[in-house]
Amino acid sequence: MTDQSPQAQVESITKAFEEDIERFVRFGDSAVVSELDLETAIAEQRAVADLRTRYLGKKSALAATKKLIGRVAPEARATFGQLVQATEDQFQMRLDQIGTALTRYIEEARTARESIDVTMPGRRPRAGHRHPITLMRERLEDVFVALGYAIEDDREIETDFYNFDALNIPENHPARAWQDTFYTIDGFALRSQTSTVQIHAMQRRGVPVRMIAPGRVFRRDTPDPTHNPMFFQVEGLCVDRGITMAHLKGTVAEFLRRMFGPDTVTRFRPSYFPFTEPSAEFDFSCFKCKGSGCRICKNSGWIELGGSGMVHPNVLRAVGVDPREYSGFAFGLGIDRMCALMYELDDIRLLFENDVRFLEKFE
Ligand code: DAH
Repeated sequence: MTDQSPQAQVESITKAFEEDIERFVRFGDSAVVSELDLETAIAEQRAVADLRTRYLGKKSALAATKKLIGRVAPEARATFGQLVQATEDQFQMRLDQIGTALTRYIEEARTARESIDVTMPGRRPRAGHRHPITLMRERLEDVFVALGYAIEDDREIETDFYNFDALNIPENHPARAWQDTFYTIDGFALRSQTSTVQIHAMQRRGVPVRMIAPGRVFRRDTPDPTHNPMFFQVEGLCVDRGITMAHLKGTVAEFLRRMFGPDTVTRFRPSYFPFTEPSAEFDFSCFKCKGSGCRICKNSGWIELGGSGMVHPNVLRAVGVDPREYSGFAFGLGIDRMCALMYELDDIRLLFENDVRFLEKFE
């Protein structure tokens, strides 16, 4: 090349450029560019950039010709200089044309690929919610916390001592039969009542004590619309000096008024529980028909809810409390039963099947 005249050199550079750029000329047309897929467009853009380096870079042949300007005869120097400059401008313009169309297209395609359709309906995350039994338990806890009671939680696996003996149910006592539960081979049993927590609470806190203990209990029952081998109870215990049955009646009546409305009436019926003496079961006036009789109260106007009574002296003695100094009352009721009543469920097992179509109704 060096033995060519400077003008001839520029001419052959231009010729080579024209040959090399030919393949890209069509990309000057944005309609052609928009036919490309994004990856091809990016590859072509890179090829155009290489071409630019090759023809316009510092080490390009055209750059080398600039060094020849000084060696051209003085009268031809200006013309040659203009030729080099015009060639460079020409290359630049041609490459820009192609490059611009490609760059614009790539930017647009990238934006389109990354953009999201804000009008598309979103996928709503499915939020969970509390189980109806939990809702009922929390309402109940709120009432008793407001009355100054502590909430106790305790174990579900027990020894005979807590489930029976300390509650004045000695071995061979018939009450063990209707509370038959599930036993482990090493002498433990799933608790059949939350009354066990009376004992734990008094051992732990001593007396005086005011507490409720909601929790799971177990019995060897065959499931039917009103029974399930696992269910929920809440136990209440109040022990202090001078506690009488009036306190029991006042507390239970106030609890039921706060749960079922201010005109709820409570009634107590004499009953028997080994751990209380005297014992009473309590009913409340039907929240649905207000006592006139309906399906929920089986036309009696009353709904049976739980058991209660004055803590038996033997129970106090079992935890080392002197029954001559202290007295107390206790009560227990079924949370799931209360749930079934309140929500008018025909079958208590619905609460334990975990069918979301059912549970969703309680959101
Ligand atoms: N533990 C009894 C049951 O499971 C319910 C009960 C009755 C609890 C009387 C008490 C009570 O605290 O005083 O059926």
